[in-house]
Amino acid sequence: MEKMLKDQVAIITGGASGMGEATAKLFAEEGAKVVVADYNEANAKKVADAIKDAGGVARVFVLDVSDEAACNAMAEETIREFGRIDALVCYAGRTFDGDPTMTPAERLKRTFEINYYGVYYCCFAVLDQMKKQKSGNIVICSSSGAFSPCIPAYEYHTSKGACESLTVQLAFDVAPLGIHVNCMKPGLCISPFYDELPGGTGSFDPVIAKEIPMKRAGYPIDFARIALFYCSELANYITGHCMYVGGGMGDIKAHGQSALLDAGLPAGR
Ligand SMILES: NC(=O)c1ccc[n+]([C@@H]2O[C@H](COP(=O)([O-])OP(=O)(O)OC[C@H]3O[C@@H](n4cnc5c(N)ncnc54)[C@H](O)[C@@H]3O)[C@@H](O)[C@H]2O)c1
Repeated sequence: MEKMLKDQVAIITGGASGMGEATAKLFAEEGAKVVVADYNEANAKKVADAIKDAGGVARVFVLDVSDEAACNAMAEETIREFGRIDALVCYAGRTFDGDPTMTPAERLKRTFEINYYGVYYCCFAVLDQMKKQKSGNIVICSSSGAFSPCIPAYEYHTSKGACESLTVQLAFDVAPLGIHVNCMKPGLCISPFYDELPGGTGSFDPVIAKEIPMKRAGYPIDFARIALFYCSELANYITGHCMYVGGGMGDIKAHGQSALLDAGLPAGR
């Protein structure tokens, strides 16, 4: 069977870990040349080496996505080395950590710098090339909590909400040019990010029990497959789309499942 991303070139920010690592490896298996873009150089190198050991093509680009010049350099380097950019998947993100060394205002600023400005800079860094090609796929990573919170996390969730608005704005603007912009909204994913949530992994067990109809957190590959879908021909007629990916979290809660359970009502037949 033909590989889904044969001869394509994909940049994956946050590619050194979690969903980004799984996406980089899956895209390479599907024939893409992959740029693993991350500020964790050692982990990014491990991911790129694993791709190369498996017969794929990968390179590392070390950057902090909150640095606009670095995002532009990432796109330029990719074009210099591989000649084109077919896909950009933006995962690089900062969690809501309650870091006591930062004031709330500093946390707000830093979270937006990485989670929103970083995505914005990366998108605009690749757009000129995609416009020249008259093709391209951008996938932005939000969070189910942006519009369906299960805990309060103001700076984090609002930064993700801005990413969803950016998805729609960009998609509207560049759709006539053959460029697709879509967004995934993860619920919970077992990754280092998840382990670093306040209170650690276990503290989210009640959230899983109450808020996730499938009763489990996701694995990085669950999200990588959605990125692949969006960047493949299967999604050719979709743009500006924001998809919950959370075992029903977000989609089903919106219909009041938790409220019914909280009220002690009988769960169906
Ligand atoms: N894990 C979850 O439960 C969950 C839930 C909802 C949304 N998300 C979102 O999914 C995305 C990926 O999360 P994950 O679980 O794979 O996390 P992860 O911690 O496993 O990976 C994130 C990667 O981003 C990199 N990174 C962070 N800040 C960066 C910066 N400024 N510049 C460059 N690289 C940077 C890190 O080095 C890391 O390799 C994030 O945007 C996160 O907000 C995660």
